[in-house]
Amino acid sequence: MMNPPFSSVDRRALLALGVGGLTLGLSPAFAQTSDGAKPKIATIGAGRQGGALGTLFAKAGYQVMFSALDPDALKDLVAAAGPNTQAGTTAQAVAFGDVILIAVPYSAMEQIGRDFGSGLATKQLVLDISNPIGGRDGADLVKKINDEGGAGLATARILPGARIVRAFNAINYAALPRAAHRSGTPLGVPIAGDDQKAVALATALIKDIGFEAVVVGGLAKGKYLVPGTPLAGEHTPDELRKIAAGLS
Ligand SMILES: NC(=O)c1ccc[n+]([C@@H]2O[C@H](COP(=O)([O-])OP(=O)(O)OC[C@H]3O[C@@H](n4cnc5c(N)ncnc54)[C@H](OP(=O)(O)O)[C@@H]3O)[C@@H](O)[C@H]2O)c1
Repeated sequence: MMNPPFSSVDRRALLALGVGGLTLGLSPAFAQTSDGAKPKIATIGAGRQGGALGTLFAKAGYQVMFSALDPDALKDLVAAAGPNTQAGTTAQAVAFGDVILIAVPYSAMEQIGRDFGSGLATKQLVLDISNPIGGRDGADLVKKINDEGGAGLATARILPGARIVRAFNAINYAALPRAAHRSGTPLGVPIAGDDQKAVALATALIKDIGFEAVVVGGLAKGKYLVPGTPLAGEHTPDELRKIAAGLS
C-alpha cells in the first residue's frame, strides 16, 4: 500500500500550528512559532552533533546561538557556521532561543534540568538529541533510563513541563551536511513527542534544513530513538514508516 505524504498525526500537528499549507505543498518560507515569528535556535552542547545541526539551521537563515561548557572554544565553529551564529554560555543560550536543541552526553541532563529546567519549560520546543550511551555515560545510567521507559520518558521527567521532541538521535553527525537537501527522496528523521504543536514545529524546522520528519509516536516511543534500534541510521521516510509500524 502506498504511504500518504503525511501521517494523520503529522497532518493534525501541522494544522494545530497553522502551517497546514505544508500539506498542500504550499510551504511557508520558514518554520514559525505560534506568534508567527521565525524562531531563534540555541544549542546546549555544540560538539559534533550540536555543531552540525546548528550550522544547518544557520545556513537555512535562522539566528543560532551555540553553547557549551566552554563557549570560548566555539570560535572556530562560529567562524565556519557564518554570520547568523554566535557563542554563549548555557544560560545565555536558554535566554536566547525560542527553540533549544540539547546535544550533550546524557549524563549531563540531570544538571541541565536542575539549573535550566524552568527556562526550558517556557520554550515552544526542546529538541532532545541526546542519548544514554553505556561506554560514555555508564551502564548504571543506561539501566536507570531503560527502567524509566527509555530516553523520551526520562527526558520528560528531567525537564518537567518542557515541550520535548526527540530527533536526530541516531543519524551520524557526519551524514547531516551530506544528506541535507539531497536530491530525490529526502533523508527521513524519526521524531517522537507528546505536544502536537511542538511536533509540528519540529516537523517544519526539519523540513527547512533539508530532511523529512516522520512522527513515530509520543515520547514513550523515544526508547526507539537511540542508536542500535531498527530506526537508527539513514532511511527514507517510507522505510521509517514501515519500520515504525512494526514497533510495539
Ligand atoms: N555524534 C553523533 O554523530 C551523534 C548522533 C546522534 C546523537 N548524538 C548524541 O548527541 C549528544 C552529543 O554528542 P556529540 O557527539 O555531539 O558529543 P560531543 O562532540 O562530545 O559534544 C558534547 C557537547 O556537550 C557539551 N556539554 C557537555 N556537558 C555539558 C553540560 N553539562 N552543559 C552544557 N553543555 C555540555 C560539550 O561542551 P564542552 O566541549 O565545553 O565540554 C560539547 O559541546 C550525545 O548524547 C550523543 O549520543 C550524537
